[in-house]
Amino acid sequence: MNLAGRRILLVVSGSIAAYKALELARLLGKDGADVTGLLTAGGEKFVTQHALAAITGRPVARDLWGEADSHSLHIELARAHDLVLVAPASADLMAKAAHGLADDLASTVLLATTLPVLWAPAMNPTMWAHPATMANLASLRSRGAIFVGPAEGAMAEAESGAGRLVEPAEIVAAVTAHFAAGPLHGRHALVTSGPTIEPIDPVRFISNRSSGRQGFAIAAALAALGARVTCVSGPVFLAEPPGVEVVRIETARQMLAACEAALPADIGLFAAAVADWRPAEAAARKQKKADMQAALALAENPDILASIGRHRDRPRLVIGFAAETHDVVRHAEEKRVRKGADWIIANDVSGDVMGGAENLVHIVTEGGVETWPRLAKDEVARRLARRIAVHIA
Ligand code: C5P
Repeated sequence: MNLAGRRILLVVSGSIAAYKALELARLLGKDGADVTGLLTAGGEKFVTQHALAAITGRPVARDLWGEADSHSLHIELARAHDLVLVAPASADLMAKAAHGLADDLASTVLLATTLPVLWAPAMNPTMWAHPATMANLASLRSRGAIFVGPAEGAMAEAESGAGRLVEPAEIVAAVTAHFAAGPLHGRHALVTSGPTIEPIDPVRFISNRSSGRQGFAIAAALAALGARVTCVSGPVFLAEPPGVEVVRIETARQMLAACEAALPADIGLFAAAVADWRPAEAAARKQKKADMQAALALAENPDILASIGRHRDRPRLVIGFAAETHDVVRHAEEKRVRKGADWIIANDVSGDVMGGAENLVHIVTEGGVETWPRLAKDEVARRLARRIAVHIA
């Protein structure tokens, strides 16, 4: 089960080799992957949606303009997976993706996604060797696309040369190699991110200004190193990080429940700005102005970091955050011990860090303190992910 929990969007485009996509979907499923099929109009000439749905156990995506309530189907598909696998990939679909065309569901998903894309081309050898296709190949590769094949051999039209779809088992091997490449392959990371919101009544709530930017960046950086990442996020206005399973919650208590449900994990990283207090009782009806003071009696929320830091299924590495305006390192060390964390990422928020693009952090561990230079938040995330990978190895 090398691919357990990996969510793969299998795009099947128009080629006689499309019949092999059914075997490919079966093999991916056998290795534990969750496969969703997407058929182009050309793909449907060779494979039916019913066959693909029966093998994947999921409805097949086919139409950009399909259901009235799925106007953003292409965005959902582009985000809710770990990998886009195009097999077989036609010359036409490669050309569309290379040029950024988006006139059907498959090409629109390819334009909308930031996920890794693995292409398994299949076409007539003359079409493959054509300078236009070669230029498209080079262009897609330069943007990070991964290619497997095509193979050489006898073709449907009694021609031979490079153009055959590589065998399904080889495509599965390429998918497995892709996921195995990162140092965090086989690890599960739990990341909290964003604010929580705590209802006062059906229309009002208590919350904070957390954007979720640093948490999403860390989730993406861990996924990029091969980890399976579950990110429990409060309401934020950001695109979901590629290759990450995002669990949306609102309150601190929901966040704790979602974190406990996501265990076991190897790494727990708690970047959320959890509301420390909630209205003791959320009113079922909108409160009148005069009743507001009573409605604001507060109860303390659970501390999620501390709860998971002392959980019987505690992740091997537990990391908390601390924003401080003075005595940053001393407070962080005290917090590390009190909350059962291994590391605290402490930052001085007395300047312009809050809501800004850069961050200056201290990594406070049992072994001492490491201070990093002022860096972009994305770079902080990448460095942190690499440090985690070295520690967990
Ligand atoms: O105590 P303080 O809020 O400064 O601690 C910050 C750290 O604790 C962060 O990692 C934050 O995500 C976590 N935390 C939590 N649950 C709370 C409060 C804070 O997980 N209720």
